[in-house]
Amino acid sequence: MAKERIESLPKHIGIIMDGNGRWAKKRGLPRKFGHRQGAKAFRKVVRYCKEKGIRCCTFYAFSTENWSRPKEEVDAIMSLMKEYLDEVRKYIDEDVRVIFIGDRTKLDHDIQQKMNALEEDSKDFTSMTLGIAVNYGGRAEITNAAKSIAQEVASGDLDLSMVDEHTFSQHLYTSQMPDVDLIIRPSGEYRISNFLLWQSAYAEFIFMKNILWPDFSEKDMDKALDEFARRNRRFGGV
Ligand code: IPE
Ligand code: IPE
Ligand code: MG
Repeated sequence: MAKERIESLPKHIGIIMDGNGRWAKKRGLPRKFGHRQGAKAFRKVVRYCKEKGIRCCTFYAFSTENWSRPKEEVDAIMSLMKEYLDEVRKYIDEDVRVIFIGDRTKLDHDIQQKMNALEEDSKDFTSMTLGIAVNYGGRAEITNAAKSIAQEVASGDLDLSMVDEHTFSQHLYTSQMPDVDLIIRPSGEYRISNFLLWQSAYAEFIFMKNILWPDFSEKDMDKALDEFARRNRRFGGV
């Protein structure tokens, strides 16, 4: 791989895995089949990102707003999650660090335990960091960060004059990750849906119109990486 190519790779990719329901609907299947197929795409894309040398990749699996879906669908997603947590364990053998972002206290106890164990067991791995956003909402994350900073200031552990953007970043779920520099969303929706609001301040966005998440392939990732490499990022400069 040429040097410029490596330098133009994103350091952190965020992926909004959208379109599972529509994928199933197109085939006359219940929505949960779309989620199952989406989980397969997740596995494929994680492996490919690692192969490509992406150091950090975060997948949006379940938002704080997704609880508003019918109970049957939420239950189906949670039971898939349980299954997949065992599967994700295999990534550990591949030197991948797993970090869950979001409020896990609202999830079933056994799911929480599996998440904690996975994070603990993979904390020293360095090839890639795999972020999985479950019961994640960017606004909730920012609110919680503000609250915990306020608490530290009130208790005297933190000096108000020391609170800056770096302090704030350190209070987010993503404190161990670089800011996201590429966000990919398939399915034809052109919105952020409460994903990585703080972290995406200077992210490039790639919305893919003609692809639903379960069909997302290595080729689509290549297309996104090529497009990212062509973008001219200015960060407010000239
Ligand atoms: C994304 O697919 C998965 C989750 C939000 C859990 P959707 O379920 O949103 O699929 P569409 O957008 O309805 O097609
Ligand atoms: C975003 O997709 C959340 C995940 C992919 C987990 P949604 O399908 O929930 O987003 P909206 O409702 O279309 O904005
Ligand atoms: Mg959707």
